[in-house]
Amino acid sequence: MNLAPELRAAIEKAGQSHLLEYASSPLLAKQLEAIDWESLPGLIERYVVNKNAMTIPEDLQPAPYFPLVPRNRSEEEKKAQAEALGVEILKSGKAACLTVAGGQGTRLGFDAPKGTYPIGPVSGRTLFEYFAQSIARAEEKFGAPIRWYVMTSALNREATENFFRERDYLGLRKDQLFFFTQGTMPAIGYDGKLLLSSPDSLALSPDGHGGTLLALRKSGALEQMKKDGVEYISYFQVDNPLVPVVNPLFIGMHALEEADMSAIMLAKTNPFEKLGNFCVTGGHLEIIEYSDLPAELAESRNPDGSLRFISGSPAIHVISRAFVEKLTAAGKLELPWHRADKKIPTIAEPKPEAPNGVKLESFIFDALALAGKTLVLEGDRAEMFAPTKNPTGVDSVESCREMLIARDLRRLRAAGVTVEENVKIELSPRKVFDDEDAVQLAKELKLEKLPRGTEAVIG
Ligand code: UD1
Repeated sequence: MNLAPELRAAIEKAGQSHLLEYASSPLLAKQLEAIDWESLPGLIERYVVNKNAMTIPEDLQPAPYFPLVPRNRSEEEKKAQAEALGVEILKSGKAACLTVAGGQGTRLGFDAPKGTYPIGPVSGRTLFEYFAQSIARAEEKFGAPIRWYVMTSALNREATENFFRERDYLGLRKDQLFFFTQGTMPAIGYDGKLLLSSPDSLALSPDGHGGTLLALRKSGALEQMKKDGVEYISYFQVDNPLVPVVNPLFIGMHALEEADMSAIMLAKTNPFEKLGNFCVTGGHLEIIEYSDLPAELAESRNPDGSLRFISGSPAIHVISRAFVEKLTAAGKLELPWHRADKKIPTIAEPKPEAPNGVKLESFIFDALALAGKTLVLEGDRAEMFAPTKNPTGVDSVESCREMLIARDLRRLRAAGVTVEENVKIELSPRKVFDDEDAVQLAKELKLEKLPRGTEAVIG
């Protein structure tokens, strides 16, 4: 295949003529056509040559948030008002769910899409099933449809869709699901040259969850949301089965504040917990990744001994559809890139032993800085955050299962059930969306006691 002369010239001008040798491959030619050659040299200069070391703004302050437990009457009233509004929004079908599932799950050491990981402590229910069943129950409860948008990467799209198809869409209606694929970014060698993974292809990788916003537009998802009357997007990560798939209080608070993008914050367990940090700089909200916050700031304390930068991000957001429309109106969106040094297999070096180049990703939370209005709401960790990142230890399969069991036992105790020692149970998310559902289920099943050693799926 012959490249158009203008494209050839643009590639040469961008200092990437080493690629032209392989351009007879149709796949590679297609990849080359998709690259913005004009901005590439600037990108390489900034992120590869100069490493774009993150500078921490002088005026960085911890971000304010609405507390979990209201401190006064007016906060109490606002909370009640927000919750009622959230229920109203859900009842009128104005909310949809969005899960980002394009990551490669390297730390978990699981080859298939992460959402297919069997996390259920008793049932082995997968992460995707937790969300699907919970969405089905929420629809039933609020009496309105809730569509589920699942973002994959080009690498795991097919495997993800096959998983849903083979399992009859996990009990959801086929047209309730909307899969879409995030973009890719070419990996760049330390010499500033784009890397080839084979003579046929650039070394491409997913462009980070910041790619979600543009992919929503390009895939037609935004258009469909508009047609359905969806105004609020409930955003969460595929690794967190404890997340409420829709949270009436959070959605309502976001709407009440007329925010563009909102975030849940959790009090960090220690200065270096691997959570993004909520900060304010230049009058706007920002999340600074755990890896970027200098130790002296992470460890700085208030006079009462509490952490100054206490607010960690569980990556749970409400995003207004109108905000995504506005951000992506020009068909492009410029979020900052974040660089990661990686071992990237290439034609010259199929199994590099040390990092040989840079992958660039954008982060969805960088859109907070572009929002006119934002809101941060404190959440209860035990009720919404059990990330599955590692096989064992912190943020692991083990800790996640323990938290799922603890949440369900708390719900049953609150429903008046006596729980003896050493009980391992799982409430079916298809039956139990919230505490009220647990009370109902315990009543239906005439459940009074869980004897010592019980191991069961209930519901
Ligand atoms: C992430 C957040 C961190 C937050 C923490 C909470 C980033 C950079 N950081 O950290 O602020 O406190 O979660 O658990 O996200 N994904 C895609 N496409 C991509 C890359 C990732 O869809 O190109 C998805 C993954 O499937 C996953 C989520 O984004 O659902 C987070 O990715 P991960 O790499 O696990 O981020 P963490 O470092 O754990």
